[in-house]
Amino acid sequence: CGIIGVLGSHEAAPLMVEALKRLEYRGYDSAGIATVHQGRLDRRRAVGKLVNLSDLLVHEPLAGKAGIGHTRWATHGAPSVTNAHPHRAGGVAVVHNGIIENFRELREELSAAGAQFQTETDTETIVLLAERHMAEGMSPAEAAEATIRRLTGAFALCFLFDGEDDLLICARQGSPLAIGHGEGEMFVGSDAIALAPLTDRITYLEEGDWAVITRKGAEIFDAAGRRANRAVTQIQIGAARIDKGGYKHFMAKEIAEQPGVIGSALDHYLSDAGIEMPGLDFAVCDRLVMVACGTASYACMVAKYWFEQLAGLPVEVDIASEFRYREPPLSPASWSVFVSQSGETADTLAALRYTKEKVAKVVSVVNVSTSSIARESDVALPILAGVEVSVASTKGFTCQLTVLALMALKAAVDRGRMDADQLAAHLAHLRNLPGLMNHALLLGNDVARIAADLAEAQDILFLGRGPMYPLALEGALKLKEISYIHAEGYASGELKHGPIALIDQHVPVVVLAPRDALYEKTVSNMQEVMARHGKVLLISDAEGVHEAGAGVWRSLTLPRIEPWLAPVLYALPAQMLAYHTAIAKGTDVDQPRNLAKSVTVE
Ligand code: G6P
Repeated sequence: CGIIGVLGSHEAAPLMVEALKRLEYRGYDSAGIATVHQGRLDRRRAVGKLVNLSDLLVHEPLAGKAGIGHTRWATHGAPSVTNAHPHRAGGVAVVHNGIIENFRELREELSAAGAQFQTETDTETIVLLAERHMAEGMSPAEAAEATIRRLTGAFALCFLFDGEDDLLICARQGSPLAIGHGEGEMFVGSDAIALAPLTDRITYLEEGDWAVITRKGAEIFDAAGRRANRAVTQIQIGAARIDKGGYKHFMAKEIAEQPGVIGSALDHYLSDAGIEMPGLDFAVCDRLVMVACGTASYACMVAKYWFEQLAGLPVEVDIASEFRYREPPLSPASWSVFVSQSGETADTLAALRYTKEKVAKVVSVVNVSTSSIARESDVALPILAGVEVSVASTKGFTCQLTVLALMALKAAVDRGRMDADQLAAHLAHLRNLPGLMNHALLLGNDVARIAADLAEAQDILFLGRGPMYPLALEGALKLKEISYIHAEGYASGELKHGPIALIDQHVPVVVLAPRDALYEKTVSNMQEVMARHGKVLLISDAEGVHEAGAGVWRSLTLPRIEPWLAPVLYALPAQMLAYHTAIAKGTDVDQPRNLAKSVTVE
C-alpha cells in the first residue's frame, strides 16, 4: 500500500492523486483521499485503479489544502469502498500501510466498550481507538500517541483530524515512511518516489518514530517518546517522467528498453581499470547468502551458477519469506546479498535486518537507490534500469542479472580464478549483450503468432538446464502473472520425476536450450516430451534449432551467445511470450489482477 500526506499552500487533492499515481506500484485494489476544508474533514474513495478515484473527484471534488491519501493492496477485507482508506471514525481519519497484528484483541476491547465497526479491516481499529481517546479529552497528538502505543505489528500511519487544517501525525514501525520539507509546506510519503516532484528534502523516520507535523516543520519523537533529531537529506530523483513513449503498454516499452539500460549499467560499472565496485573485495568472503522474492529470486538463482562456476564461491539462495523465519545459521565471514527492484519488499527487508550483525557485509542490488533496502545495506549496487512501471518485471530482471554477472566476474578476479585476459574476454561478451538483445527483439511478430496458440492452453511447462533452469521458472512466472494461464518451470532433468505425467497433446512445453555443453541432455528430455505428443516450443540458436531436427511444434531462433550469459538474452523471448499471450487473452498487462509491483506487507 502507498501513503501520501500534504499540508500545502495549494489544493491538496490533485497533488495527492499525482503522488498516488507514483505509488500505484504498491497496490491498486482501491484508493482514497481525505482533506480538511474550512475545518471540516471529508473523504472520497473508489475501488479499482486510481483512475476511478480521479473520475469520482471530477464529479465530487474535494477542496482543502491539508489531506491524506492511500492506494491499497488488500490484506484484511476484500477490495471495496468501505474497506478502502482513509478510514474514519468521528473526527479522526487515518491511512495505513502494513498489518496490525493485535487488531482482533483491540477490536474485542472496542466492541465491548460499544464501538461500532463498519469494516473487517485491521485499520478501522486504529481510528476507533484514536477517536475514543479524543472523546476522553485528549488532544489529537496525545490521542495519536496513545493509539500508536497500543499497536503491534509492522505499519506506517498518517492521521488527519477534523478541525485541524495544519496538522498531520504520522508513525513508522516496520514499514517505511518519509517526511518531505517544502517552502511553508510539509509532506509525508511511503517513499521518496511519492514525494519526488513535491520536494527533494526528505527525512526518513526510524523504527518506532512518530511525528507531529505542521506547515512550520516536523517534531519527531522516538519509540521512548523522547524528541529525536533526524537528518534532512537532499535526494536526487527528478520527477521521473512516466509515460508509455508510444507503446501500448509499459511492459512493451520496458522490454524494448533493455538493450539501452543494460548498456548504461555496463558503462556505469566498467572502466579501463576493470569492474568498479568499491567496498566489495570477494577475496575475503567465504560464502554468499542471496535472498529475494519473485523475479528477483530467480535472478539470484541464475547468479548462483555464475558465482560457483566462475569464482568458486559457494552461494545459498532463499526466498525472503522463508529465509526470515528459518533462523538460518550464518557465518561471520560470509556476505548477505539482497536483490530487489523496488527495494521496499517487506519480506526482503526483514530478511536483510535478520542478517545484519551476523555477516561481514550486507550487499544489495536494487533499482531504487533511495529505497529502504538500499539505505540499510553496507553496499548498495544500483541496477540502473530506470523506473519500472509494469508489475511484471522485465528490464529490472535483466539489469539485475547484468549487475550480478559483473559481481561474479569481480569475484572470480578477486579470488584468483580469472586472469586479465579471461576477464577481458568475458567483458567483451557482456558488451555484446545489448546488440544481441536488439536481434532478439526482432522476433516480436513470430512470438505474437505463437502466443495466439499458447493463449488457448490451460497449462504450459517451461524447461531449462543449468542457469537456464531459473529462467524456466521466470518464464513460467511471467506467463502466469499476466496471462493467468497456469505455468510451471522445471529443471529439464527433473521432468521424468513427475511433471511428465502432465504431458499430452494439449500441453505446450517451452524448452529454453542454447547450444551449450548441456544441450544434448536437454534434447533427450525434449524427445521424451515429443514421444508423449507434447507440443514443444524450442527456443535456441540456429545450430540448436537445426540439430533438434524434426518433431518440434514451433521454434524461435536467437543469435548465438556465450553460454553462461544465455539467461540474460533468453529472458527476452520469455517476456515477449508472456506479453503477447496476455494480449491475445485481453488481460490487463501492466496491472494484472491481485498483484502489486512491490509487496510492502509480509
Ligand atoms: C512482487 C511483484 C514481482 C516481484 C516481487 C519482488 O511480488 O509482483 O514481480 O518480482 O514483488 O519485488 P522486488 O521489488 O523486491 O524486486
